[in-house]
Amino acid sequence: MLKLVGVKIYLSTLEREHCTRLWVDYEYDARALTEPLNIGHSKEKAEAWFNEIQRDQGKKHVRLGIFLPDGTVIGDVALQDIDWRNRSCTIGMGIAKIEHRSKGYGTEAARLMLEYGFNNLGLERISANTLEQNKGAQRVMEKLGFTLEGVERKAVYFAGRRWDRLTYGLLREEYDGRR
Ligand SMILES: CC(C)(COP(=O)(O)OP(=O)(O)OC[C@H]1O[C@@H](n2cnc3c(N)ncnc32)[C@H](O)[C@@H]1OP(=O)(O)O)[C@@H](O)C(=O)NCCC(=O)NCCS
Repeated sequence: MLKLVGVKIYLSTLEREHCTRLWVDYEYDARALTEPLNIGHSKEKAEAWFNEIQRDQGKKHVRLGIFLPDGTVIGDVALQDIDWRNRSCTIGMGIAKIEHRSKGYGTEAARLMLEYGFNNLGLERISANTLEQNKGAQRVMEKLGFTLEGVERKAVYFAGRRWDRLTYGLLREEYDGRR
């Protein structure tokens, strides 16, 4: 079992019940519209998600749960779409409940994953995608030293309009230089 320990949170392997908990707890912030509403969350889909995590763990992705010190699972973070040949991947994450957002948990979780990706997996580049209106995610990328590399204009449609998608990147040498 993989466990990465931070200050306010720790990361650990997601078990079946954690996947269900996250899907039950997930709250859509209708005021922020940071991502499309994912209709159809269900226990069956949580089970399928758990199975997918197991199948691809350590191959296509490394996905871990974000846990408070008391063992409560509050989100997940992943190095995904791992390209072993080019030593690159994309980082993605989510905090399920609104009350747990903007408390520094996401930044700490991503920081632990960057350390794991660069130091343990030997990655050379980690990228991240988010939408123009997701100021929280953009702030996390800035805090971690990512560079805004590109804007795909009007790439995503939901909530009645098209939104720009932003791509951020962080290279191993930039990460090493900041440490
Ligand atoms: C995006 C997300 C993963 C970030 O995790 P988090 O734990 O909330 O992030 P942190 O608290 O570490 O950092 C968020 C930063 O953004 C800031 N922020 C949040 N909302 C903001 C807004 N609307 N405008 C400006 N800054 C904002 C916070 O103040 C904080 O910055 P600070 O530490 O300088 O005060 C989380 O908020 C989340 O799951 N959101 C809903 C789903 C989602 O958007 N997933 C990501 C898709 S790319």
